[in-house]
Amino acid sequence: MRVKIIGSAAGGGFPQWNCNYHLSRAVRHGEDGFLPRTQSSLAVSANGRDWAIFNASPDIRAQIAATPELQPAADGALRDSPVRAVVLTNADVDHIAGLLSLRERHRYAVYATERVLEVLEQNSIFNVLDRDAVDRRPLPLSGRTVIADREGAPTGIIVDTFSVAGKVALFLEDQTKAEHGFGTQSGDTIGLRIGTTGGSGALYYIPGCAAIDENLKARLTCADCLLFDGTVYTDTEMPDAGVGAKTGKRMGHLAISGPDGSVAQLADTSIARRIYVHINNTNPILDPRSDEAAAVLAAGWEIGFDGMEIAL
Ligand code: MLT
Ligand code: MN
Repeated sequence: MRVKIIGSAAGGGFPQWNCNYHLSRAVRHGEDGFLPRTQSSLAVSANGRDWAIFNASPDIRAQIAATPELQPAADGALRDSPVRAVVLTNADVDHIAGLLSLRERHRYAVYATERVLEVLEQNSIFNVLDRDAVDRRPLPLSGRTVIADREGAPTGIIVDTFSVAGKVALFLEDQTKAEHGFGTQSGDTIGLRIGTTGGSGALYYIPGCAAIDENLKARLTCADCLLFDGTVYTDTEMPDAGVGAKTGKRMGHLAISGPDGSVAQLADTSIARRIYVHINNTNPILDPRSDEAAAVLAAGWEIGFDGMEIAL
């Protein structure tokens, strides 16, 4: 299985278009060691030929332009793409807006939970995806799905779905239910085990996660590789930076650091490779010379970057 992180940043990207925080300034001005990052997305292939995109970010056009594997084959048809399917883990704007760019009658399948498919259904702009060409298929909240192309031919990719603690998409928050997760329901955020019919390694992909419980730890035990929510280093990072009032918890993202953070909570779980993705532009690990980046690396984590390839 080939896995490429095609977007390692959270919503907004790095630098974010309107951000003057010192990290966005540093990457904008090309400071040594700072890597620009596009918004959250992953490309996976079981056979090196057919690809599935996990989460379609607003940067998908640039991500495909930067990834030869996702481009039309030199000997392909006049209109051609190796993208056979798009799989969504939630309905956040940074994970679905890219669908609007994947039109032009290319035939592929979109997989998401009923809750997320309902969001696409309710927003008529997604009708730009011609239903004859783009088939919408439900993922169960728990269970295995063989990812197939539009015609039903298997891609060799298999996903196992499980729900994780999360939050309903920002644009769907119900302010009258602030005490109850703003209307969050199960199916709003899922995690995925991504494997192949060939049965070589498997990858856990959890770009949004509000809490780690014993169930999740048990599931991840002995994983070959984990790509996990690295949005914020500390829960109060955005208010502390002065860029916004929301904590990580408020956004449905567990912090990296602290006694309840993901480094500490997964320290005793045996996972061969652990990599942070969906990294927000306020997160100090984006500065490769920071103490926080050093602490994450010392704890055995890697910091995902655009173009990072993982062979499993
Ligand atoms: C998130 O991950 O919390 C969302 O993508 C934030 C957003 O809607 O930009
Ligand atoms: Mn996001």
